[in-house]
Amino acid sequence: MNLSPNNPIGIFDSGVGGLTVASAIHHLLPGEQIIYYGDTAHLPYGDKSKETIIYYSEKITEFLLEKDCKIIVIACNTASSNAYENIVKLVGSRALVINVIDPVVDYIQHHLSSQNIGVIGTKGTINSKSYQNKINNLNKNITVSSLATPLLVPMIEEGFIFDDISNAIIRNYLSRPELQNIQSLVLGCTHYPIIQNQIKKYYNFKVNVLDSAKIVAGFLRNELNAHQLASTHIQGVNHFLVSDYTDYFNAISNMFFEGEINLEKDNIWN
Ligand code: DGL
Repeated sequence: MNLSPNNPIGIFDSGVGGLTVASAIHHLLPGEQIIYYGDTAHLPYGDKSKETIIYYSEKITEFLLEKDCKIIVIACNTASSNAYENIVKLVGSRALVINVIDPVVDYIQHHLSSQNIGVIGTKGTINSKSYQNKINNLNKNITVSSLATPLLVPMIEEGFIFDDISNAIIRNYLSRPELQNIQSLVLGCTHYPIIQNQIKKYYNFKVNVLDSAKIVAGFLRNELNAHQLASTHIQGVNHFLVSDYTDYFNAISNMFFEGEINLEKDNIWN
């Protein structure tokens, strides 16, 4: 691997939701340069087939490699669940690759040894059984129950965050039989950190709600340090690229990223 610590970190997602991960990374590692790619032309990934998710993810990964990214962060849970192995193979020794699931599984393994854990995410993430299989491969004493919660992404994007509508949808999902008697809940989707306070409130703060964005940022820092790839001085400006630009995407991106950002269009599909 011929990589420099001062190369950028490449982060990608199906759209702007992955900015929650980019934001956590930026705040933990402000000296790193980020190149973010949101595939707004093709979102949502949550309902797409595995083949399509792999196809999109590989194309974006090649683009980020052309930008000399030292590490590829698959910020999208659906892409992490369905395309991680393909991306690792594609990247080979050209860069490091992390997804957003392994850091959470690692955290669970070290902090929550025997529990009932719930996972919520898109249909693509839940149907893949990624969280369940990875957690149970390491620890059979943990019971994992999962529920696809597809209404949450459009609900959040449309700004229903802390009102009667969002509370009713959250209550409806979290009261389903699949999620009873859990001690922890994994927010297995880029968008869900935005409603984590409402989710905690639903549980009267008695369920441990795991915000994967922060866990992923910590995991990334350890990976960079372990490979001597942490930046040695403050890097250049961050870039937030999208395959399809609208004022709407630009406006909502500020909900997912703490701090001012502007999206730039870079359509790699032409
Ligand atoms: N980024 C996706 C995820 O984390 C949610 C949005 C989508 O379905 O594309 O699974």
